[in-house]
Amino acid sequence: MIILGIETSCDETAAAICKNGEIISNVISQQIIHSIYGGVVPELASREHELLLNQVINKSIEQAQISLSDLDAISVTQGPGLNGTLLTGICFAKGLGYGLGIPVVPVNHLEGHIFANFIAEPSLQYPFVCLLVSGGHTQLWFVEGIEKYTLLGETRDDAAGEAFDKGARILGLGYPGGPAIEKAAKGGNPLKIKFPRSVLGKDNLEFSFSGLKTSLLYFMDSIEEPSKEDKIDIIASYQQAIIDVLVEKVRRALDYTKATTCVIAGGVAANQCLRNRLKTILKGKKLIFPEPKFCTDNGAMISYLGELKLKSNKYSELSFSAKPNLKLL
Ligand code: KG4
Ligand code: ZN
Repeated sequence: MIILGIETSCDETAAAICKNGEIISNVISQQIIHSIYGGVVPELASREHELLLNQVINKSIEQAQISLSDLDAISVTQGPGLNGTLLTGICFAKGLGYGLGIPVVPVNHLEGHIFANFIAEPSLQYPFVCLLVSGGHTQLWFVEGIEKYTLLGETRDDAAGEAFDKGARILGLGYPGGPAIEKAAKGGNPLKIKFPRSVLGKDNLEFSFSGLKTSLLYFMDSIEEPSKEDKIDIIASYQQAIIDVLVEKVRRALDYTKATTCVIAGGVAANQCLRNRLKTILKGKKLIFPEPKFCTDNGAMISYLGELKLKSNKYSELSFSAKPNLKLL
């Protein structure tokens, strides 16, 4: 079975081909236009998708060394995401699917992120705990099978990716903030500044990052322009505060569920410090990470999950629409 996956939920225009569970091409175009605004401008993102979709999809077909007529189905992100950007991908998918006379499968973006772990580790066994950390979501899931998900906890305010992005803005780094902070923190002392870790009580599995962001803002306001070395220490300390909370909550979730496998998903899961810290803390547990290119938004996870949904006949007619607030449960 050959599936084209299309992802346009935010500012990555992405397409990939999955053939019988294997990703045979993966093309991602990150829209650079937003960096000058310090965040994604929805209308510009939709226009960029319109411009880029055709070439990104053609490239994914070329790289896979197939032709359009080889496709058995198309899967496309239905939500959550920006309404306009989702619609560009959905309309494209529907038009192409209708023209080719093949099914179009709507896919939940969050579910796609979780299933990117099967691309990394096809033998991944249920049940497992998933830390899903992206620009809009920070959630802990207990996953017992496809569509058997229990939400263990989520953020009360900002997502972890938002903490990176807003922190980067305060620190005068670029957008997206996560990679910018990770790069700028290299060589810094992560223990230099004691930023708060909001763990919310002994057994709590929720998250809260808005206080951390505010404390960075107050801290930067309270000091003179830092030296280059001091600034690196501040950035490393801020990153460490986010990571410490994520790791502690994963530890608690594994304790609570007695699961022995943990996977991570979403853009923040690309962070090497987070990966290293989890490896150190979770000795004796099985830990899976998708490759960084499958952590941030991509079409591969959409095509992979599309194939699974198609096989279990979990797809609708062409009447489906974008669902910007789509949940996993
Ligand atoms: O999953 P994703 O690509 O898009 C959403 O579904 O939101 O996640 C984007 C988020 C952004 O907040 C970005 O700053 C963050 O993931 N991110 C990272 C890294 N790469 C992307 N955060 C920390 N370290 C990274 N290396
Ligand atoms: Zn995402």
